Amino acid sequence: VVLVVDFGAQYAQLIARRVREARVYSEIVPSSMPVAEMLAKNPKAIILSGGPSSVYAEGAPRLDRAIFEAGVPVFGMCYGFQLMATTLGGTVDDNGAREYGRTPLTVSKLGSTLFEGTPAEQSVWMSHGDACSAAPEGFTVTASTDVVPVAAFENDEKKLYGVQYHPEVLHSTHGQQILEHFLYRGAGIEPTWTTHNVVEEQVALIREQVGTKRAICGLSGGVDSAVAAALVQKAIGSQLTCVYVDHGLMRKGETEQVEKDFVAATGVQLKVVDAQERFLTALAGVSDPETKRKIIGREFIRVFEQAQLEILQEDGPEVAFLVQGTLYPDVVESGGGTGTANIKSHHNVGGLPDDIEFELVEPLRKLFKDEVRMVGQELGLPDEIVQRQPFPGPGLGIRIVGEVTKDRLDLLREADAIAREELTAAGLDREIWQCPVVLLADVRSVGVQGDGRTYGHPIVLRPVSSEDAMTADWTRMPYDVLAKISTRITNEVADVNRVVLDVTSKPPGTIEWE
Ligand code: XMP
Repeated sequence: VVLVVDFGAQYAQLIARRVREARVYSEIVPSSMPVAEMLAKNPKAIILSGGPSSVYAEGAPRLDRAIFEAGVPVFGMCYGFQLMATTLGGTVDDNGAREYGRTPLTVSKLGSTLFEGTPAEQSVWMSHGDACSAAPEGFTVTASTDVVPVAAFENDEKKLYGVQYHPEVLHSTHGQQILEHFLYRGAGIEPTWTTHNVVEEQVALIREQVGTKRAICGLSGGVDSAVAAALVQKAIGSQLTCVYVDHGLMRKGETEQVEKDFVAATGVQLKVVDAQERFLTALAGVSDPETKRKIIGREFIRVFEQAQLEILQEDGPEVAFLVQGTLYPDVVESGGGTGTANIKSHHNVGGLPDDIEFELVEPLRKLFKDEVRMVGQELGLPDEIVQRQPFPGPGLGIRIVGEVTKDRLDLLREADAIAREELTAAGLDREIWQCPVVLLADVRSVGVQGDGRTYGHPIVLRPVSSEDAMTADWTRMPYDVLAKISTRITNEVADVNRVVLDVTSKPPGTIEWE
């Protein structure tokens, strides 16, 4: 393992990903972790991330110098670089030598371990206040900028390396190459980490954890739960049962996709609960978005727990495990804890006995989203599942503005299917983060079709571009694709006589309408 020591400000996650892109497994540890504990993990190399502090600020995170004396190769970036410099006797000045953004770097030692094969002038991404003016003894200065005399240094004998800039950022044109040079040449690590190995390793771990007992997994139709289930299925086969609640709020073909494609690809034992009537009844007469969400959430838990109870009562070994598709960013953001958490199911609503506890199986908790997709591909899941865009748990229930009824759901399903088909045909699936299709069920407008007056409902298209759904912009998609979607929806979907485009960013609009 390569450890990425996190000094804050989210650089560490990006570095960890870049290390994995170099096919070397990496993990993030907080800078507050004692050095002895880091070394106990037997890291093949350690990377010190950037961070928001000045090394001279009060309370700035520090590291015991033992980390540089353990014989483990260390690469410091930005804050990590300055920390290495000051700890080992170099000079870092708070002299106003600031650099932010794209900066030209001049490499003075072209054949050095990090810079070999890269150009003498390269563009790098800087973000620092203090600057290193003298490298520690035994170090060779390998690069500088107009402002910073020591922008990179190396000590090959001690296997210590550092750069003032952020090689993990794409704006640093040779950043990935330099990181790989550290890993392969500096630390002598072989690039052997692949999704194939991840699958092998996880399968072995799951078998060990679950033993001869049984596990259950809720499938939502989303990528994470599907890949987690497929991985566990590969490991323990018929000891796993998946539960899929069909609440009738799914898009066209989605339930069939889980029922047929997912089962065909994995051979998983699937329990589909048809709860459409139940959800429609519970939603009857309700238009308020929050009330709808609460009803859908509540009914979902009830149905899911009922299904669990039925599985628990079947003959067979004890059902002791619950599979969840937790990802690495969630783990890191919630403090990076390791031990296996025990969760108590919601016995108060589902009628489960008080003493039932499940141990969690979380085979994706070390993976980033794109890695989960690669594991899904490795496991033979179809692209329709693996490359799926986000879709909200309450489904089409929150894309009908107004009361949710069977007819309205059917109508929206048709319109949504047309939009998705055309977006896919135009090759826009990757460019667009997601494109909610919304039915304004309580709005009517006048139209004309085939010489006659119509009085129908509008459909809203909401294509958005985003990195993480926290913020988003409306996608400037080609007019001809919009035209095709509009023509097809108004021609093919009864009661829809108008298609409108939502041109609001987030904020102020959310991605979904409810
Ligand atoms: P908003 O509408 O808040 O949506 O901008 C942000 C992202 O979250 C999705 N979303 C949900 N996902 N359960 C989910 O699993 C929900 O209740 C839910 N509501 C919104 C939405 O599709 C977008 O990707």
